[in-house]
Parts: sequence; C-alpha cells; structure tokens
Amino acid sequence: MRNMSKYTKDEIAKHYNDFDKLYENWSGGVQGGYHYGFANKVSDIFFNDRMVKNLSNLIAESLGIVGNGNNQNIFDAGCGVGDVSAIVAKHYNEAKIYGVTISTKQCTIAQQKHSKTDKFCIVEGDFENTQFEDNFFDVVFFVDSICHGEGDDKNAAVSEAYRLLRSGGRLVVCDVFLQKPKSRWSKWFNFVNEQMLDQWRVNEWIIEEQFKKSAEQIGFVDYKAINLKWKIVPSVLHMIFTKIPLALYKSLTNKAYLKDLKAFIRMSIFVPLLGIHPIFHYQLITLQKPIKNSMEK
Ligand SMILES: C[S@@+](CC[C@H](N)C(=O)[O-])C[C@H]1O[C@@H](n2cnc3c(N)ncnc32)[C@H](O)[C@@H]1O
Repeated sequence: MRNMSKYTKDEIAKHYNDFDKLYENWSGGVQGGYHYGFANKVSDIFFNDRMVKNLSNLIAESLGIVGNGNNQNIFDAGCGVGDVSAIVAKHYNEAKIYGVTISTKQCTIAQQKHSKTDKFCIVEGDFENTQFEDNFFDVVFFVDSICHGEGDDKNAAVSEAYRLLRSGGRLVVCDVFLQKPKSRWSKWFNFVNEQMLDQWRVNEWIIEEQFKKSAEQIGFVDYKAINLKWKIVPSVLHMIFTKIPLALYKSLTNKAYLKDLKAFIRMSIFVPLLGIHPIFHYQLITLQKPIKNSMEK
C-alpha cells in the first residue's frame, strides 16, 4: 500500500509558481536548467550557468539519438521553463520536442521562450497522466522532476513513460537515488532529508532498488546508471558562495526576495549534509523499452 502524499500536485505547482525568482536566479538568469551541474574544465567552477549547461549537454548526449533527430519525438517530462529542451534541440535540430510542466507560470514562460519555432510544443500537465498517444515518443527524459512523482519507485511516472515510448525507445532519468530503504535510515539522515524534501516539495526521493525493480516489472530493460554525486560538488558550493550574497543583496531592496534568501540558506546547510552521506547518489539512469520481435503483434 502506498503512503498518502504529503504534498499534493497543486502544492507542487504552487511551489514552482511562487518561487519563480529563486529559480530565475538558479543558473544566473540565463538558459541552462533548474538543476545542479558539473565542471568540464577548471574555469567552469566560477560560472554556475556553464556547469548547469554541461549537465544538460550530458543529458542530451545520453538520449541515444543518432544524427540530427529527424522524425524523432522527444519528451521533456517536468520541463521547467524549457531550458533543457532548448539544449537538447541544439543537439538534434530536426527533432520535435514536447515539454510538460505542472506549473502554469513555467508553462507560459517556456511557451514564450520557444514561440518562434514549431520545434517545440510545451503544455501544462501531469507527467504521470498525459494526453499523448501510446508509442508516440522515441525518448522520454526527466531531469530533477521525477522526484515529484508518486512513491519511492516512481511507478506511475515510469509506467506512463513506458506507454508513451515506441518499442526500442529510451527512458533517461537524472535525479537523486537513495541507496537504502527508509527503514534503515538513521534519525539524523531522516531529519536532514525531511528538510530537503520540505524545501523542494518532494514527497520522497527515489529508492534505487525499488525503482529498478519496478521499472523492470513494467517491462524496461538494459538498466544503466552513472553516479554524478561527486561531480556536482563544485556546483553546490558555487550556489552557496554566490547565491546567498546575491539573495541577501536583493532582499535589502525588495522584501519579495526574503523567502528566496531563506530557501538558499536552507539549501546551503542541508544539501551538503545530505549529499556527503553514502546513502545519497545523484544519478543519470538510462533504460530501454524492449524492441518488439517482428513476429509479435
Ligand atoms: C526542479 S524543476 C526541473 C525543471 C527542468 N527539468 C530543468 O532541469 O530545468 C522540476 C520540474 O518538475 C515539474 N513537475 C513536478 N511534478 C510534475 C508533474 N506531476 N507533472 C509535470 N511536471 C511536474 C515542475 O513543474 C518543474 O518544472
């Protein structure tokens, strides 16, 4: 039996609608995405937007698309303001990219950003229950978004992705993956974790063992994982040393930034505490929907 969710979908949407300034400042107000990143060269550590973009580029390269993406449909599930979609589009300029976000405000921003071309189709909706047809997508990807889905195995989101993917299609997930079930956490880990879940309106992180088991039961094969936990450390530190002073400065002139300042301070304390724990992994996972035998109907 599944637990009742602490945060409803409306509350999650409200979080993204209300915290637009915090997220606007996330990668310096430039396109890149609402996630941490990593340095490809030493100088990147001074520019969070570069690190965030490096991760978005890695996501794009992991999609397994050959060539320019001609005739390919790609689904950015939980697309934020469409920044990762924009980077994916640079890699595959013939692909059509669909994005879904649960936040009305983000959806409007993403639609405006991508209104000049018909390469993008951004809609407001729920990635656990979309209006797209079966087998419509070649790739479905989630970047720091599936964490908002139901359960510690994210069964509803993964089942929907399976329905949407064509045979041989790929699922890519980049997110927090915890390495032990809740019953084996210390009180200390539980406390720190609660602070982060509350900050980000996440009901529960993925427990990797549950996620893998559930994805394989749904039908996915070829589970591959890369742990990026230590690679994102410079990006986490960059946030601490640059975003707190910026939010502090902004909140002196505009009180609306005070809640963002509080959020950045909270993240700066609890993200490193959670992140250094061995239970915490930040992973890029790829899975495949099996290729249908030509004899099968
Ligand atoms: C941390 S942001 C990441 C955004 C984007 N993937 C990026 O990396 O820039 C999480 C995103 O997930 C979206 N989200 C959360 N729950 C969702 C749901 N059930 N359906 C669709 N989008 C959802 C939020 O609206 C938000 O855009």
